[in-house]
Amino acid sequence: MKDYKNVIIFNHPLIKHKIAILRDEKTSMKEFRELIEEITTLMTYECLKEGVPTVEKIVKTPLETCTQQVVKDNSIAIVPILRAGLGMVNGIHVLFPSARVGHIGMYRNEETLEPQEYYCKLPDGIEDKLVLVVDPMLATGGSACDAIKLLKARGCKNIKFMSIIGAPEGVSKVAEAYPDVNIYVSTLDRCLNEHGYILPGLGDAGDRLFGTK
Ligand code: PRP
Ligand code: URA
Repeated sequence: MKDYKNVIIFNHPLIKHKIAILRDEKTSMKEFRELIEEITTLMTYECLKEGVPTVEKIVKTPLETCTQQVVKDNSIAIVPILRAGLGMVNGIHVLFPSARVGHIGMYRNEETLEPQEYYCKLPDGIEDKLVLVVDPMLATGGSACDAIKLLKARGCKNIKFMSIIGAPEGVSKVAEAYPDVNIYVSTLDRCLNEHGYILPGLGDAGDRLFGTK
């Protein structure tokens, strides 16, 4: 894959370790869910290194008064792409319990692999927030592109996209379509198979999170 300024691939040993367990077909639904949350928290720490709205706050320590930087109230929104993106929400809420959550429902048509939108509910004022769009799988990139398009149409200007496993095809598609959106991917896999599944991947993330197969 080409080098893109807006693509950040983690390749962190701790995240790699957790992804190895996540991929294993023997990993239980409970452990899968916990790992998705833990990896998301680790990713969020890095992802929020830049672009987070902050304000100054005066803090009185036992010794003196100082000016500190704190994250601006009500300035972050999480937008999971249903269903599998839901598994990542708690991983961010651990760090920002008050972050509002918007939901975008999409499923891929199994034949065409085109995303079909079936639900959208976003918090008021989302256009002024830092929006973290989350989905563990970035395969063809169709779902990510449609979700970002929808958020931009709603006026969102500060969008970051977080995915645990990306395929080169999908990461390139989103990176080229939206150069102003940073794309954070824990690990870049080899390719897609003929059914649009990521290889080696982890299978169907939604089914593994919710036990639907
Ligand atoms: C999966 C995944 C992404 C999408 C990625 O969802 O969670 O949303 O596929 O594929 P793409 O990059 O080719 O668009 P799926 O459509 O299986 O729905 P689900 O989460 O409800 O199972
Ligand atoms: N969606 C998934 O859940 N897994 C894939 O490998 C591709 C899309």
